[in-house]
Amino acid sequence: MVCVCNAIRECDVRGAARNGAATPCKAYRALGRQPRCGQCAPFARAIIDDERAAMSSVLCQDAA
Ligand code: FES
Repeated sequence: MVCVCNAIRECDVRGAARNGAATPCKAYRALGRQPRCGQCAPFARAIIDDERAAMSSVLCQDAA
């Protein structure tokens, strides 16, 4: 569980990141939730950064 307040799982955050959410706030909105206590923000951000980095490396491989 990434966000206890909103019951958001890691796979939910990764899915939102793949759909274009660049920040935890945008990812939570895309999932129909809102950030509350904020304790999850660093973890959610790390997951989003990781997912976006993985996406861009795939895109670069496709372009090569
Ligand atoms: S744990 Fe995510 S807002 Fe509280």
